[in-house]
Amino acid sequence: MFTYNCLNPISNVGLDLFNTNYKATDDVNDADAILVRSAKMHDMELSDKLLAVARAGAGVNNIPLDKCAEQGVVVFNTPGANANGVKEMVFAGMLLASRDIIGGNIWCDENKDDPEIAKSMEKAKKNFAGTEISGKKLGIIGLGAIGVLVANAAVHMGMEVYGYDPYISVNAAWNLSRSVKHVTSVEDIYTNCDFITVHVPLLDSTKEMINRDAIEKMKKGVIILNFARDLLVDEKAVVDAIAAGKVRKYVTDFPNPTTAGAEGVIATPHLGASTEEAEDNCARMAVEELRDFLENGNIRHSVNYPDCDMGVCHTVSRVGVLHQNLKGTIARFTTITGDANINVSDMTNKSRGEYAYTLMDLDSEVPEEVVAKLAACEGVYRVRVIK
Ligand SMILES: NC(=O)c1ccc[n+]([C@@H]2O[C@H](COP(=O)([O-])OP(=O)(O)OC[C@H]3O[C@@H](n4cnc5c(N)ncnc54)[C@H](O)[C@@H]3O)[C@@H](O)[C@H]2O)c1
Repeated sequence: MFTYNCLNPISNVGLDLFNTNYKATDDVNDADAILVRSAKMHDMELSDKLLAVARAGAGVNNIPLDKCAEQGVVVFNTPGANANGVKEMVFAGMLLASRDIIGGNIWCDENKDDPEIAKSMEKAKKNFAGTEISGKKLGIIGLGAIGVLVANAAVHMGMEVYGYDPYISVNAAWNLSRSVKHVTSVEDIYTNCDFITVHVPLLDSTKEMINRDAIEKMKKGVIILNFARDLLVDEKAVVDAIAAGKVRKYVTDFPNPTTAGAEGVIATPHLGASTEEAEDNCARMAVEELRDFLENGNIRHSVNYPDCDMGVCHTVSRVGVLHQNLKGTIARFTTITGDANINVSDMTNKSRGEYAYTLMDLDSEVPEEVVAKLAACEGVYRVRVIK
């Protein structure tokens, strides 16, 4: 029986996937697993019982990843689970920027008492007219979970799509429409595109990647969309470029004092992933990841330990060891099992930076003294007998 605690409300679409082997607990210190969305965990004491934390969402800056790793707690997130929600907002953003739909809607509200509105609108509508997105060039910076969905849908909307991602994953490349023009220099996006949308993570290397120099290279009248993170864009430069007539609109999901209410800016209050479906997908994925780890020891989509998958255990026993990534560790483990006359029938060792994970399928039961010896090895954070 495993226990789990939800630090935030988590969709039942996910929680319903816990079977009768799982019990919810209100006491976080009694939980084998924690599900969390935005609750801040940095100042929390982690109980020795805690094995895993799953963040239903992508960002994990509310979770102390190293502290968890060093206490043998695996942290998961749910990358891509909200990608479709963000993709749809990108299209809403492009459409809102192309015609003054917001202004037109406000005009209708303001003229609601005019009995002649059906006539007067025919005169007023030219103020809100604009352009279509079909046939326009869309540049996508970052072809991950979101970027690929935006690219493929934009192709179907009749756009000419340019994609830039020097680190594209094999999976993303497989999923990308062949009609997307792959560019190897981001400058090609800047100089060619009518719409430019950013879908990269915020890293030191991507911070303010859309800066004055980049804007300088862009076409006059470009529309820039940012549904990734505000710090990816030098927004002061964008607001200046709007005033100078260089940038037509800036669409952002991250309003702040620079952009909220600014001329030419269309801001939404971080709505990218705010859909029922995205919340359901995140919860479903978080629970599936937790179950696979708790029941089989497999790690999928961890943000502090390496991924490692040995499927379901078919031997007598399975042991998982979370440890520091140190030389000679595997030899120490196999010496211990060998000395105890236990055959290792399958084994995987994966590392990620300072941390590593070893999963061993064994042909016999693991006596407590073997577990104690493994736990006493240098750099070992936790030993779990999974089966
Ligand atoms: N608005 C929202 O509510 C919302 C919701 C989810 C995600 N996001 C944000 O969207 C962004 C993308 O999310 P995702 O799930 O697609 O991430 P992802 O990790 O699947 O994809 C990111 C892609 O960016 C690429 N990349 C990294 N550095 C790059 C660079 N310098 N130039 C070009 N490409 C680069 C990576 O190779 C990767 O393919 C993130 O910043 C995330 O925080 C926003």
